[in-house]
Amino acid sequence: MPSTAPDPELPATEVENGGEGELEETPAATRTPDQWWRSAVIYQIYPRSFADGDGDGIGDLPGITSRLDALVELGVDAVWLSPFYTSPQHDAGYDVADYCDVDPRFGTLQDFDSLLTRAHAEGLKVIVDLVPNHTSSDHRWFQEALASPEGSAERARYLFRDGRGPDGSQPPNNWQSVFGGQGWTRTTRPDGTPGQWYLHIFDSSQPDLDWTNPWVHEQFADILRFWLDRGVDGFRVDVAHGMAKAAGLPDYTPPAGTGSMGGGVTLAPEIEGHAAEDPATPPYWAQPGVHEIFREWHAVLEEYEGDRVLVAEAWVDPLEKLADWVRPDEMQQAFNFVYLETPWQAPALRSVIDESLAAFGGVGAPSTWVLSNHDVVRHASRLALTAENPQGAGIGPKSPGQPIPDIGLRRARAATALMLALPGSAYLYQGEELGLPEVIDLPDSARQDPTWFRTNGARYGRDGCRVPIPWEATAPGYGFNTSGESWLPQPGEWTRFARDTQLGVPGSTLELYRLALELRRSHGLGTGSVDWLPGYSEQVVAFRNGDVTVIANLGTTPVELPAGEVLVSSDALPEAVLLTDSTVWLHTL
Ligand code: GLC
Repeated sequence: MPSTAPDPELPATEVENGGEGELEETPAATRTPDQWWRSAVIYQIYPRSFADGDGDGIGDLPGITSRLDALVELGVDAVWLSPFYTSPQHDAGYDVADYCDVDPRFGTLQDFDSLLTRAHAEGLKVIVDLVPNHTSSDHRWFQEALASPEGSAERARYLFRDGRGPDGSQPPNNWQSVFGGQGWTRTTRPDGTPGQWYLHIFDSSQPDLDWTNPWVHEQFADILRFWLDRGVDGFRVDVAHGMAKAAGLPDYTPPAGTGSMGGGVTLAPEIEGHAAEDPATPPYWAQPGVHEIFREWHAVLEEYEGDRVLVAEAWVDPLEKLADWVRPDEMQQAFNFVYLETPWQAPALRSVIDESLAAFGGVGAPSTWVLSNHDVVRHASRLALTAENPQGAGIGPKSPGQPIPDIGLRRARAATALMLALPGSAYLYQGEELGLPEVIDLPDSARQDPTWFRTNGARYGRDGCRVPIPWEATAPGYGFNTSGESWLPQPGEWTRFARDTQLGVPGSTLELYRLALELRRSHGLGTGSVDWLPGYSEQVVAFRNGDVTVIANLGTTPVELPAGEVLVSSDALPEAVLLTDSTVWLHTL
């Protein structure tokens, strides 16, 4: 049975294959089945850690350009670049001080243009990051606001408020920062006396913008046009569930057991993503006001030729709610973090696949799939944790439930082989194609995530998934650069993960990815559908997508392979059986 449940509100053609039919009844709909992003595999480049052209230990744009060939060889369709804009780097670039320039650490605007030209020449689309919830406190807008009187137009760009209590010494409300500690910081007036407070849902160096102010809307429309004019293919929108806050900024106490805000950047979905009318919805997430912003941006993208895309980073649950982010006149895609957070259990995976295809397909959008990114524990470690690990907490030497590396890599390979067989668009995070695990034993002195500092080390944060990746086994810095410098230390035992150790080696993780990506394309899996196969045990995920049969065995009992030519397998297949924690694709007619 196809996993997509038709939505009675929509013409029947819309929901099959992630909703590729025509949206006759929606005036703003301009979607066609051949839109590249519907089935694209998009590779996330984290510029600090991808390739370092100038050897200062921080990756850069020329470094990326020099390594684009490797991504063509890998077989991805597009890259998403995490921020490379002018920034003091208090949150690794997600604290932007100038949205329309490149930080000198990463290069210049000319370097960006060269990267884009080269990527396009190689057939790769390029998506850049847009960070609209907050700026850096170094941004001119914020500096002008601080220098301007209370109640001024400059202050109205941000969320400045008077403090509570007779002397205003208490924060305006009880909101906490995602990174730990309170969500407000008090300013000091020019005469040295304490002044108003400003809201920062993240670090104190990341003041939240006030999206009820039309001026803010105008600035961001211009920023979009600046990058669209340069030729980018789209934007990944940071914290796309956070820009609108509930009127009056009411106090909010998360339900017991979920921590101050739920435990990390992503927070616990049970408190984060409920509908605005749900009393459990925090007044800073998933407020209805965000949708007006997306519609504006959708219209800006439509001013341009080509097929440009907005991708929501929105930690919203349930999926039916997240589907609102990708209605036909809003964004094109949203990261499926519900999928990312699904445990390695067959029934849970079958359900989330069904729910994803139904929810996104119900609004005519493709589902997306993702297992790793720069905010989460790498899936080669996460899938083999032996204790609960709240999202955003990270893993360090003292964390309970340390992952079991061999099981982790085995599951990661199986999970990726399963993900890449699904219809829709898939996201890869740099280094996962090498099977990289989380780096757990970073010295405390090397850690840089604001989460680590704001929680006094109670949460390790996200540095462990951000270590510069290994290209060459025997080169300094594993070929990240030629100097051997690295902003986070690389582990001594990464030789076996280096790209040149794996390239051309049958069965290596890199070759598994390459083969799966090639077959995904040649068999049209990204534009296909999921037909569940009966007759398998509860611990098996088995479906057909076109002429490919996909079987993932999450149980301990070996699964006999059906007839058909083996196309790709995440593990060796002794005696034609699929062992535990492995996935196979078979060509079946
Ligand atoms: C997003 C980014 C994360 C960043 C945060 C604040 O969640 O992915 O890395 O710290 O927003 O900008």
